[in-house]
Amino acid sequence: MAVLVTGGAGYIGSHAVASLKERGEEIVVVDNLEQGHRAAVTGGKLYVGDLRDKDFLETVFKENSIDAVIHFAANSLVGESMQNPGKYYHNNVYGTLCLLEKMIEHNVLKIVFSSTAATYGEPENVPIDEYDRTLPTNAYGETKLAMEKMMKWFDVAHGLKFVSLRYFNAAGAHESGLIGEDHNPESHLIPIVLQAALGQRPHISVFGEDYDTEDGTCIRDYIHVSDLADAHVLAVERLRTGADSSIYNLGNGQGFSVKQVIDIARLVTEREIKAVIEPRRSGDPAVLVAASNRARSELGWNPKRNKLEDIIRSAWNWHVANPQGYKGKTQE
Ligand code: UFG
Repeated sequence: MAVLVTGGAGYIGSHAVASLKERGEEIVVVDNLEQGHRAAVTGGKLYVGDLRDKDFLETVFKENSIDAVIHFAANSLVGESMQNPGKYYHNNVYGTLCLLEKMIEHNVLKIVFSSTAATYGEPENVPIDEYDRTLPTNAYGETKLAMEKMMKWFDVAHGLKFVSLRYFNAAGAHESGLIGEDHNPESHLIPIVLQAALGQRPHISVFGEDYDTEDGTCIRDYIHVSDLADAHVLAVERLRTGADSSIYNLGNGQGFSVKQVIDIARLVTEREIKAVIEPRRSGDPAVLVAASNRARSELGWNPKRNKLEDIIRSAWNWHVANPQGYKGKTQE
């Protein structure tokens, strides 16, 4: 039986494909390559197409014996979601509806879902646990929450079992050096800092120095992408035992400020990285740190790449070897 990975050519999806391959799983990847890269898919059979194309999806399910789905395919830019929420509802929510309906039609009743800390919005408690209030402050987080709720009602009606994984800040790159982070446009802190170290940008803009934190910059919980990827494999294994639906936070439980990240990047890269303080970016909570005890105890998740220095070093290795990202590898 195969695991279908939607969005498997994207940053986190491609690392999940690598983890599945390491476990000897049969893999089918679906990606419309709008954001994903063909060269990022290092295992399985790739179908290029969109979840909203029902004939396309029917072909994928007909041609393969799929027993579980890992669903990454989605738009994920917070800023863009505020400018163009319709795009997020259409691709994320409607795309998920098409996928779930096709799964039910083919009696595929296990799904692992790529969710986000953005479902919580401004946190009530630090660290955040899965029982905390979900009140997204942006359209992206709202669509991810809507997708989680859709799965809940498909469970009630059809017995679809899901594991929703709410990531904090994914970072780093696969130890093979073959796959890493390459977004266009890039909006994430660590790749931008490393691009500044490579001289591809004149500086890193620090969005706000007046937050209620020790050094005034925002605090985030950075988690290695391969540790995230491993959690998806464990979640598939858990669903195969007949477990009930559940939601887990995935983070390190340790927060680092924007300034701390830049300082560690200076140490790792041994390059000058100029930082310029700029106004706050809208919608950024001051502190986002995960309580991930539940994933550890119930999934048996044991993140191994915990030191931020090592996470940044793995990202740096990828950036140095692939300064143009996947563009240097193929056309896509
Ligand atoms: N930041 C800068 N300068 C930059 C980029 C980011 O100062 O050029 C700051 C941000 O303001 C924030 C921190 O660095 O304080 C981290 O920003 P990222 O954009 O790397 O990550 P976010 O915490 O905003 O977003 C991540 C995911 C989103 C998800 C969100 C909440 O990328 O998909 O966490 O879960 F929605």
